Amino acid sequence: MIRGTIDKIAGPLVVADGMKDARMFDLVYVSDYNLIGEVIELKGDKASIQVYEETGGLKPGDPVTATGKPLSVELGPGLVTAIYDGIQRPLDKIREEAGDWITRGISIRGLDHEKEWDFVPVAAVGLNVTGGEILGEVPETKIITHKIMVPPEVSGKIIWMSEAGKFNIDTIIAKLKTLDGSTIELPMYHNWPVRKPRPIAEKRAPEEPLITGQRVIDAFFPLGKGGTACVPGPFGSGKTVIQHQLAKWADAEMVIYVGCGERGNEMTDVLQEFPELEDPKSGEPLINRTVLVANTSNMPVAAREASVYTGITIGEYFRDMGYSVALMADSTSRWAEAMREMSGRLEEMPGEEGYPAYLGTRIAEFYERAGNVKCIGGDRSGALTVVGAVSPAGGDLSDPVVQATLRVVKVFWSLQAKLAYARHFPAIGWLDSYSLYTDNLKEYYDKELGTDWVPMIKESISLLQQEANLLEIARLVGAESLSPEDQLILYTSRSLREDFLHQNAFHEVDTYTSIKKQKIMMEVIMHTNAEMKKAIRGGVSPGDLFELPLKEEVARMSYIPEDRLDDIEAIKEHINSQINDLIEKEQTA
Ligand SMILES: Nc1ncnc2c1ncn2[C@@H]1O[C@H](COP(=O)(O)OP(=O)(O)OP(=O)(O)O)[C@@H](O)[C@H]1O
Ligand SMILES: [Mg+2]
Repeated sequence: MIRGTIDKIAGPLVVADGMKDARMFDLVYVSDYNLIGEVIELKGDKASIQVYEETGGLKPGDPVTATGKPLSVELGPGLVTAIYDGIQRPLDKIREEAGDWITRGISIRGLDHEKEWDFVPVAAVGLNVTGGEILGEVPETKIITHKIMVPPEVSGKIIWMSEAGKFNIDTIIAKLKTLDGSTIELPMYHNWPVRKPRPIAEKRAPEEPLITGQRVIDAFFPLGKGGTACVPGPFGSGKTVIQHQLAKWADAEMVIYVGCGERGNEMTDVLQEFPELEDPKSGEPLINRTVLVANTSNMPVAAREASVYTGITIGEYFRDMGYSVALMADSTSRWAEAMREMSGRLEEMPGEEGYPAYLGTRIAEFYERAGNVKCIGGDRSGALTVVGAVSPAGGDLSDPVVQATLRVVKVFWSLQAKLAYARHFPAIGWLDSYSLYTDNLKEYYDKELGTDWVPMIKESISLLQQEANLLEIARLVGAESLSPEDQLILYTSRSLREDFLHQNAFHEVDTYTSIKKQKIMMEVIMHTNAEMKKAIRGGVSPGDLFELPLKEEVARMSYIPEDRLDDIEAIKEHINSQINDLIEKEQTA
């Protein structure tokens, strides 16, 4: 323990004297309140400390204690369904102890150390194990089996294994003899420093899409499992709704939701909805596969930094078990602003728009922790997918946080004020968004959706690009001057936008579309396009085609439930007969 005293206080920054032996990123306790902080700069015997709790009432001369350990999280059974603040204190326990008022200096451990879990050993005595090796299992919720692993960086020969039984997480479940002859006792949990990525055996390119049930994402700009995406957008363009939709519907086995500096009521929405909503696969409440980290706008600014790292460390831990994990962070801009504030108070040389020069590095390091990986300690793969919302002022994409993020992520969902204003949701622009995973995922699509899927998507994107040009021409010289073929491009593009890309997150059926249904919907639209093209070549007037009643049927597709996909399939027949009637009329005329 290194003991110093407060020299000065500036908001969330405290400078302490007598800290010569402290190290960067040491966890410190500040004052008799025991406020938690982290050393972020050392100069001589002065340490600058980023304090994760309100610093009101502190004064020079108050004691500061450095623990010599970095800020860490507890990893073990009890994480699933937990709701934490930025430094892994369970919010319900804070409320129990402190009421709604003072939450300072409360030391509550991240995991419940009393609760007993059913432990089943899977490793045997005599086995040589390294970090990541699975020692036993705990059925944590109906969806998640918690794998108790040898902590990373630990290895040895198992000399004792616990029998199956009901234990709390402090109970020793295995003993290892290490190479140097000492014995290590392993309980059901371990600590891991949040700023240090957990080791992996190998990183691979994503091979499977993370199916989100959001049509514009899955069909046009897919995210790979283990990939990274960024959703920048102006105020009110739908960043939070998208993050919530992903947390609800993405086919990840575990979801970590980090609410970073956003409105508290948005977190409340999540908290209220998740216990009620069912996981489409297991029928279990969604909360049974979720960990929530909430550092909302009314909570201390500095803890935003910690919340992002706490979240991703928990995500990596479940990835190490072999799960596919998805982490949403809303909003990384608030995290960056916290960095800017601390940097300003440290009087560091500012970079662009006052953000610290290391902004880009920090952001890159964060997204680098995503990945489709071969796990350490055994033959299993896991994935950690990371989606960050960015909220630049005025939606300006030249914002340093957006730019730094776009340099590292592989998917860009560009939210547009214009679309949100026109109530086209999700307001993801189809002309400038992109996914760099499309090629990696082709094999998966060919196998799962048929080899016609990828060309069909390419064709529809191309139609939308042509639409943009045609609308420009129509604006200049009038729509009537467009050829019948061009009019059809406008008709089909509109159908793609309104009947496929537009999706209402708040409609019971429309909120989630299986990839199978997406394929049938897309087929219906592109089939209409192909049949109409033939009819136009046969001399049918576009005006007559565009007024056929099939239009309404196509518009209702998205509201047809998943168990009635035949009804959508049947629309193709109606399309054929309606268009054929027109062709016959034209021929007899
Ligand atoms: N997919 C959607 N379906 C229906 N409505 C939507 C959808 N996405 C967004 N909206 C509407 O837009 C509103 C604003 O969305 P949201 O709160 O997600 O924006 P935001 O970008 O997070 O805003 P802020 O910058 O304030 O955080 C929502 O309350 C909702 O009415
Ligand atoms: Mg929001």
